[in-house]
Amino acid sequence: MDKKNIDWGNLGFGYMQTDKRYVSTWKDGAWDEGGLVDDANITMNECACVLQYAQTAFEGLKAYTTEDGKIVTFRPDLNAQRLQDSCRGLCMPVLPEEKFLDAVDQVVSANAAYVPPFGSGATLYIRPYMFGINSVIGVKPADEFQFRMFCTPVGPYFKGGVKPLTIRVSDVDRAAPHGTGNIKAGLNYAMSLRNITDAHEKGFDENMYLDPQTRTKVEETGGANFLFVTKDGTVVTPKSGSILPSITRRSLVYVAEHYLSLKVEEREIYKTELKDMAEAGLCGTAAVISPVGKIVDHGEEICLPSGMSAMGPVTQKLYDTLTGIQMGRIEAPEGWIRVIAD
Ligand code: PLP
Ligand code: COI
Repeated sequence: MDKKNIDWGNLGFGYMQTDKRYVSTWKDGAWDEGGLVDDANITMNECACVLQYAQTAFEGLKAYTTEDGKIVTFRPDLNAQRLQDSCRGLCMPVLPEEKFLDAVDQVVSANAAYVPPFGSGATLYIRPYMFGINSVIGVKPADEFQFRMFCTPVGPYFKGGVKPLTIRVSDVDRAAPHGTGNIKAGLNYAMSLRNITDAHEKGFDENMYLDPQTRTKVEETGGANFLFVTKDGTVVTPKSGSILPSITRRSLVYVAEHYLSLKVEEREIYKTELKDMAEAGLCGTAAVISPVGKIVDHGEEICLPSGMSAMGPVTQKLYDTLTGIQMGRIEAPEGWIRVIAD
């Protein structure tokens, strides 16, 4: 199969329309068979529930070309399960895991010409999402839904690739206590738009959100979880009921313990502990692991000892091992890799 003529090495994290996308509709209490379509546009009523009351959730995962030329995805079963949790939280129907996985296979296979080649630094980002599509004017859930999935080739999420980031402690909360922070609801991102725009205008790459209840503990950023490394080499990551359970973070915790024999703690992390950390990183499908070099807390600068020019050594090992597993250079734990094309 011929690849598209794309400058893979210079892709940013943007949308490029590919050839096929998947659609399935839930109506009268059941999913239809679903399948691939050509049209990238959606027509809906002006009063669609998603437009009026933001009844929508999404996922994000990637397809990779491995060193030996296979096209694979990384733990898509966990994306299927997290979408189910998000849908339960937003009164949307649950999509069976098998249907989700079949949609991933179909979308990636049909757009194989857009899967970036091994070693290009780019990947195919896959965006599954579900929304309430029928008209609703009183505040209540829709009763007709669409599940869709498209894909787009992407480069690094943060400009500058793996250059350490500068982030700021946010004054705005991302999620309410006992709210929707632990599901991938579109509304969590809508509320972060003003804050990320303001952060960028002021020269910061991201916002560090604190726990909404006490504003003393580190939660996550707008699009990634945190991993820290203490000065004694322990990997620590925030435990909270209002952050998204990142698949990348859960995988890195496993990699740290089982591949790198590091000590890992998942616990509450107080903002006052940040000055004692040796390394910090943002982890997620889009972010992979993006190192943090500086955290600014209302004028006070916390400069991580790992510095502003490269990743810290532990973060680098985690990055190399995770991407090695994803690209087929390092043997993956059972069930982590789904082969789509040999
Ligand atoms: N936290 C937020 C708010 C996110 O949007 C994401 C991205 O999906 C993550 C964390 C990372 O999750 P994952 O590693 O499953 O992509
Ligand atoms: C992802 O990493 O898949 C996300 O959904 C994060 C988003 C900010 C792009």
